[in-house]
Amino acid sequence: MQKSKLIGNIEVPGDKSISHRVLIFASFCKGITKIEGLSPAQDCASTANCLSSLGLKINDKESNDAKGKQQSYITVEASGIKQLHAPKANLFVGNSGTTIRLLAGLTAGQPFTCQFDGDESIRQRPMARVLQYLEKMGAHIDYIDKEGLAPFTIRGGNLEGQEFKLKVASAQVQTAILLAGLQAKGKTTVHLPSIARDHTTRLFKHIGIPFQNNDGSISLEALNDPIRPFQYKVPGDISSAAFFMVATACLPGSKLVLTNVGINSGRTLVIDVLKRMGANITLLNTRIMANEPIADIEIIGGDQLVGTEISGNEIASGIDEIPILALAGAFCKGNFVVRDASELRHKESDRLQLITSNLKIAGVDITESEDGFTIVGKKNIPGGSLWQTHLDHRLAMCGLVANLLFDNPLSIEETASTVISYPDFARDLKSLAKN
Ligand code: S3P
Repeated sequence: MQKSKLIGNIEVPGDKSISHRVLIFASFCKGITKIEGLSPAQDCASTANCLSSLGLKINDKESNDAKGKQQSYITVEASGIKQLHAPKANLFVGNSGTTIRLLAGLTAGQPFTCQFDGDESIRQRPMARVLQYLEKMGAHIDYIDKEGLAPFTIRGGNLEGQEFKLKVASAQVQTAILLAGLQAKGKTTVHLPSIARDHTTRLFKHIGIPFQNNDGSISLEALNDPIRPFQYKVPGDISSAAFFMVATACLPGSKLVLTNVGINSGRTLVIDVLKRMGANITLLNTRIMANEPIADIEIIGGDQLVGTEISGNEIASGIDEIPILALAGAFCKGNFVVRDASELRHKESDRLQLITSNLKIAGVDITESEDGFTIVGKKNIPGGSLWQTHLDHRLAMCGLVANLLFDNPLSIEETASTVISYPDFARDLKSLAKN
């Protein structure tokens, strides 16, 4: 079967990780914050809905720019630090781990009780990794069904700053503790075992929340006065761009430019790995926007990629991209090996298990290990098999990309879950595919 090529330019939607933070940090302002390019992901809508239940006023707006072009943006109206309202019902976070963990940190400092819950996937994801620290700072946590899992309640209030050494390089856990620390008495310090994405401190700096950074350990004290409302334009999401990058690299004759993509060094494993595998990738117009590095990424599909190993501290910078990188690995010359990635078992699904079983049944020579997998690459993958997603958006998007690369079409369990991070992914991918 003749394979398509991907040709053209595309601007992927705003970064999900940054969008959550901009919405949440706007709660520390007194007045109206204006956000352009907020991620359309359902996960970010979950954050916005929970913040609305906590008393923030969040609205979609439109205006004309200087050239008369219509622009849409979001406004967030808040009353300042510690001014949230007790929610009238549960805070339902849907599928979003970032929402539940970051909002746990935010509400831990508020003098009321909140009950958090989410979908079936959220109910299986580890919450104690955040809540144990909030508890040590003085929040009261009650697990409703099972210890360590959602649903749970937080009774917030008088927090004391503490110093914590995290075992996992988790930006979510670090951010949750810092959000609690901004409402705690004394100093809060978080040490990470290795580098993770630093969107939180970049945004703190951009909007004027004081903190100290000592070799990656972040300290801060209570924020006593509200910060000034700000304006922010969210960069494109490299985790969404990754799907197009892998597809283009694996389809000879393809050429794509992904414009305005965030290239925070805590997120760029996908670029580093594809380059290591021999992909033709160029970062054009690298620049700083709202204290985040961004670029236009040009990628040209060519020769067969070569195998590589991904392991150790670099895993955190591509934690969400390893499933799609596995697809590049399936087509490589040699071996593609992932180690030290057991965190993938605690995402929206057990991604090590699911990517391995999907690829194996499609005809890939892949062996799962406790903390990764090994692939012996091939030029052609038969496909024609069932592709399970377990309602995990990134697995559904991998399936759509695999359909461009495998010899026979897959039967993808569902693609509706793409709404979690990139609602128009299937349409955008199709619009770039040329025969
Ligand atoms: C995120 C951090 C990562 C990532 C998640 C978003 C964030 O999780 O997998 O999709 O926005 O901080 P961990 O920090 O738990 O690894």
